[in-house]
Amino acid sequence: MSDIRIGIVTVSDRACRGEYEDRGGPAIHDYLGEVLSCSWDAVPRLVPDTIAEIQDCIVQLCDVEGCCLVITTGGTGPAKRDVTPEATEAVCDKILPGFGERMREVSLEKVPTAILSRQTAAIRGSSLIVNLPGKPSAIAECLDAVFPAIPYCIDLID
Ligand code: MTE
Repeated sequence: MSDIRIGIVTVSDRACRGEYEDRGGPAIHDYLGEVLSCSWDAVPRLVPDTIAEIQDCIVQLCDVEGCCLVITTGGTGPAKRDVTPEATEAVCDKILPGFGERMREVSLEKVPTAILSRQTAAIRGSSLIVNLPGKPSAIAECLDAVFPAIPYCIDLID
């Protein structure tokens, strides 16, 4: 059986322009390396905060690259350029609001600004997409809160 493939998407205008080092994508990669016991392949992507490019990236990772899980970081806030949740929902069949609710709940115990994140999770075909905020420190905080449900969800939608 071939290894499972996981898309890791950093959404950031500044990282795309080279003004800022992408630390979110590597943080997701490191987290998955710690928690996953199966072999897996990362499919990393870096995209700007434009709805069309985020949508295209998610569609490609799900439909062409065969990723069962796509984790995004960044673009979940209230700023005009923050459109990752809209892009995610636009290309998905079902929204899973509990993921965002739980991640905000645990994040609010760390930072009051966690309420600003509109992060969500959704299903496209047999792929689960999970949004995380852009702060590298948010990666483990959020994933710890929902990770137990992720393999089960992927089994259910396969
Ligand atoms: N969640 C956690 N766990 N840790 C954080 O530092 N930052 C918040 C919030 N959620 C944060 C967090 C802030 S300051 C913002 S603006 C929103 O996520 C959205 O961030 P994003 O636009 O980079 O996705």
